[in-house]
Formats: sequence, C-alpha cells, structure tokens
Amino acid sequence: HGFMLVLGIETSCDETAVAIVKDGTKIVSNLVYSQVAIHRPYGGVVPEIASRKHIETILPLLEQALHQKNIKLSEIDVIAVTQGPGLVGALLVGICIAKAIAFALNKPLVAINHLEAHLMAIFLEQKPLFPFIGLVVSGGHTNLYLAKDFLEIKQLGQTLDDAAGEAFDKVAHMLGLPYPGGISIEKLAKEGSPNIKFPRPLLNKNNYHFSFSGLKTAVANYLRHHPSFCKADVAASFQQAVVDTLVTKAVQAVKDHLLPRLVVAGGVAANQCLRKKLLAISQKEDIKVYFPSPALCTDNAAMVAALGYHHFKAHNIADFDFDAISRYPV
Ligand code: KG4
Ligand code: ZN
Repeated sequence: HGFMLVLGIETSCDETAVAIVKDGTKIVSNLVYSQVAIHRPYGGVVPEIASRKHIETILPLLEQALHQKNIKLSEIDVIAVTQGPGLVGALLVGICIAKAIAFALNKPLVAINHLEAHLMAIFLEQKPLFPFIGLVVSGGHTNLYLAKDFLEIKQLGQTLDDAAGEAFDKVAHMLGLPYPGGISIEKLAKEGSPNIKFPRPLLNKNNYHFSFSGLKTAVANYLRHHPSFCKADVAASFQQAVVDTLVTKAVQAVKDHLLPRLVVAGGVAANQCLRKKLLAISQKEDIKVYFPSPALCTDNAAMVAALGYHHFKAHNIADFDFDAISRYPV
C-alpha cells in the first residue's frame, strides 16, 4: 500500500493501550484499557498488579484493534513501543510483545519516549508549526520543552519533587476523593470558590523548574488548622494554585524564547480550568495554545505510533536488545 501503518503499544503505567496510526497523523484504531478501577481501592497504582493486568489485556486488545478495522498484522509496517519512562515491569510487557511481533514478522521496531509522545499527540488532530514550547503535565511528570522538530526535543525544566498530577492525586486523597484525583478535584472545584490563598510555588524565576510538594503540604496544614473546612473551596483553591503556576512558567518560557506557540499535553492537560486560563491568556498575549482533545491528553498508544512514524522515517530503528528505561537522565 502507498501509506504507512504504525502499530503503537503503550504499557508504561496503568493504561494498556494499542493503536494503529496511518502516516503519523490519522488514527485508524485507538484502544485504551484503563486499569483505574482496579487500582482505585489502593489509592494509587500498584506496580505488580499493573504488570499482570497488562499481560492479560495486551493481546486481546491488539486483536480487537486489528479486527475492528479488518487489518492483518502482516499489513503493519512499523511497530512503535514506549521504552520509558514508567514502571519497569509494566514497560517490559509492551516491549516484549513489540519485540515478538517485530521479530516474527520481520518488521522494523522503534522505541519511544513516553513524554515526547505526549507532546506529539497534538499532530493527530492539529498541525502546530515548529518550533514550539511544550508543557507535559502528567501523573509522573511536569516538564517544559523546546520542540524544534519531531525528533529534536530539548527539555527546559522539570518538577524537582511532585508532578502536577501527583499533587492532584495526593490532595484528592487528603480530601477523601477517589483516585485518580485530577478528575475528582476538577468536578468538586466547580462547586467551590478559590478563596483560600495557597502558595504559587514558582521557585526561582530564572529557571523552568516546578515544585508542587510545598503546595501539597500547605493544603495538609490548612486542613489540620481548619477542621470544618469547605471541601469544594479547598479543591478550587488548590486547583487554581496549580493552574496559575503551570501557566506562569509556560508563558514565561514562551516569552523568553520569542515563540508564540505552546503545546500542552499529558493527563493534567485535560483539566478545564487549565485550558480556560491558557485560552484566555492566548487571546490577550497573541500566543497560540494547542491542546489535544482530553482522550489524547491521557495515556494512549496513538501518540506513540504518531511519534514512531517520525523515528522510522529518520531510520531510528531499535535493536532487539533494548531495555526499558524507568527514568531518563536529564
Ligand atoms: O498522562 P497521564 O494519563 O498518565 C501519566 O503518564 O502519568 O496522567 C495521569 C494524571 C493523573 O495524576 C490524573 O490525576 C491527572 O493526570 N488528571 C487530571 C485530570 N485528568 C487526569 N488532573 C487534573 N484535571 C484533570 N481533568
Ligand atoms: Zn502519560
């Protein structure tokens, strides 16, 4: 055929995901099996359970992705799999399957950085011009990037402690809200007002690093000192503090680099309060802000396949002996 079909496989955390993407931009199938309900009783992801569930789910999901669109595995041109960062045991499930398919069918294999894939999810829906500033806000990461091209992504800053999503999850837990906390807090915040002054942890103004653990502690202290606190107000105030911090740093990066384009991705990018604030600023400041639709903000394999296409084009083919990378050195 005159086009390229990339199979994406993603198992870095608690979502088992398989996708088929055509020419790096068009989603053919995109299936995500979320383990959230399984981990909810534990208040967070249990690594061993995640790995076991990936093993059970990945092959049926792959079959479904192919069957749904009447595609044979032999019609796949490239296999792209998340190499990291993430839980090692979970990553290894996807990597083993990807290697097995690539070996059996004699197809090229590409290894993908999950965070870079988040940033490239936008190309499944829109076409931002390079270079742009990228903000990836997920459960494990809060990173700012300068993206010069698909394969030229430079990290500008990161969180020095908790990730933004992690802070949402931990504060939700303090408030007795279900895991994952982002959605729970967003929902409750709609009923409250952001009238509690929590800190905006911007750290040093001269860098692009984040820190959210102090904010989390400030919320814990507030709850201790105000036994009859209003849950919805705490949720709204905490959310506002996170959003203000993310927006300030991202806009600072945009201005410093004289780049009027910002791409926001990762699970927290699904947050409506963050989206609204960034859109308001974009109108005022003449910055174009790009968000993937919420389903492409959270973990999926279409983004892995999308970036995989560009790795393949650049002949970045992985050897069969590559390993999972739990954390990348900065
Ligand atoms: O990108 P993602 O699906 O998985 C990781 O790679 O970590 O992000 C998951 C994180 C969780 O911490 C979750 O609480 C947060 O994204 N999240 C949200 C929202 N939806 C998911 N945070 C704030 N508002 C949301 N609507
Ligand atoms: Zn993710």
